[in-house]
This record gives sequence, C-alpha cells and structure tokens, in this order.
Amino acid sequence: MSHGKNERMFVRLTKSQRIQHVILFVSTGLLILTGFMLMGERWVIDMFGSAGNEIFYWRGIVHRIAGVAVTLVCLYHLGYVVVQEEGRSWIKDMLPRLSDATHASQNVSYMLGFREARPKMERFTYIEKVEYFSVYFGMFIVIVTGTMMWTEQYWPKFWLDVADAFHLGEATLAALAIIIGHIFSVHYNPHVYPMNKAFIDGKISESMMKEEHGLWYERELERLAAEEAEAASEGNNNA
Ligand code: HEM
Repeated sequence: MSHGKNERMFVRLTKSQRIQHVILFVSTGLLILTGFMLMGERWVIDMFGSAGNEIFYWRGIVHRIAGVAVTLVCLYHLGYVVVQEEGRSWIKDMLPRLSDATHASQNVSYMLGFREARPKMERFTYIEKVEYFSVYFGMFIVIVTGTMMWTEQYWPKFWLDVADAFHLGEATLAALAIIIGHIFSVHYNPHVYPMNKAFIDGKISESMMKEEHGLWYERELERLAAEEAEAASEGNNNA
C-alpha cells in the first residue's frame, strides 16, 4: 500500500484523547517496570548492596505515584465518555455491535485467503473494541487489588493473598498484551511500519482510512461534504 506524502489526512484522535493516552501509557509503562522489578529484588540488592535498597525504596514510591496517575486518568475517562459530547460519540462508536461479529468472520476469511478483500469496517474495528474493553477490565482489577495491597494493614491475610494473585496475574496479562498485541498492530503492522504516529499528531491517512475503516471513511466523506455545503450556503446568504 502506498502512503503518499501529500495524502489527505483525517482526524483520528483529538487533543484530549491524545493526552489521556499519553498519561495512560507512560504510567502503565512505569507500573510494569517498577512492578516486575520486584522479581529481581534479591539479585539487584546482592549486586548493588545498599544502593540496591535505595533503588527498591524508590521503586515502591514510583509504583504508587504511577498507580494514582493511572487511577485518575481512568476516572477522568469515565467522566469524559458520560459528560462530554466528544466522549459520548467515542463510546457510542466503541460499543459492540452484531456487525463486529460479521466483520471478524469476514476478516478471518480474508486472512485465510477465502475472500478477495478485507471487510469495510467502522471507526473502531472489532479488534480495537476488544483491546479497549480489556483495558477497563484490567484496570479495574489492578486498581482494586493494588489499593488493597497498599492498605494491607486493614485486610485479612487470605484476601491479601487473593489480591496479590489477581494483581500479578492481570499485570502479566497486560504486559504481554501490550508488548505483543499493541506493539504488533501499532508498529509492525505493514501498513504503518515503523510506527503509527496517530497517538502523536492524531491523524490518519486517507489510504489507511479506506483500508482499515472503510465504512467510517464513507461516513466521514459524507459528513465533510455536508459541512462544506452548509458553509457555502452560509457564504452565499451573507454575500
Ligand atoms: C498496569 C498496571 C499495573 C501493573 C502492570 C502492576 C504490576 C505489579 C507487579 C508485577 C507487582 C508485584 C506483584 C508480586 O510480585 O506478587 C505489583 C505489586 C504492587 N502493586 Fe502494582 N501494578 C499495576 C497497577 C497498580 C496500581 C494501580 C496500584 C495502586 C493503586 C498498584 C499497587 C501495587 C502495590 C501496593 C504492590 C505491592 C508491592 C509494592 O509494595 O509495590 N499497582 N504491581
């Protein structure tokens, strides 16, 4: 697929969505790093001695600060999809539909070579919807269990063990999903290699719109044409 330099671009992520995403991925990155560091604690302390203790003291603080940041951005996002117009349109387009199942089976047929073309998909593909709602599920688990471990003096040992098991299980799942799934679809997908820059500039090229979000592309063209027609008729009225 060619991506000409002068291609028409469409808005994929607004400024607010990009800011929420940056906070989410920076804090999740720090949480993965400082959480899994615990597995090498003995090794680091043996190697660095008292400096190792210092590193692990700060590890705990950074994990908690990033935990608060991720909790706040999740709460903000919940408010955003309920209260703000832009957020309501986001969640409306993100909700699962029957057509997602059709697109999933058509896309699998295409990938297996039984279909000539990819199905035309909506603003969010069935894969993006699964990824998005997995973050709700995962964040709920790590926030609840992380808060329990943070306030360990108030919990019986049994519940702390349960919290720890769920926290570690979900953290492992999230780290693998991000490293394998997200990095593949955002970086190594041949259509976007070496990187999909939409999370920085919020833009998507016309060729990618057509390829990955064909139905949304058609709706956007209609919407933009209607907007242009309205602006032109207003211009005529004012003249
Ligand atoms: C994507 C998000 C997160 C990841 C990947 C993650 C990862 C981890 C990992 C791997 C551990 C070690 C568990 C073990 O060895 O048994 C851990 C422990 C812990 N996590 Fe998280 N975590 C996340 C979110 C949070 C949040 C949101 C909070 C707080 C609200 C939190 C608070 C804690 C606490 C208190 C511990 C106990 C160990 C310590 O003192 O640091 N975590 N986390």
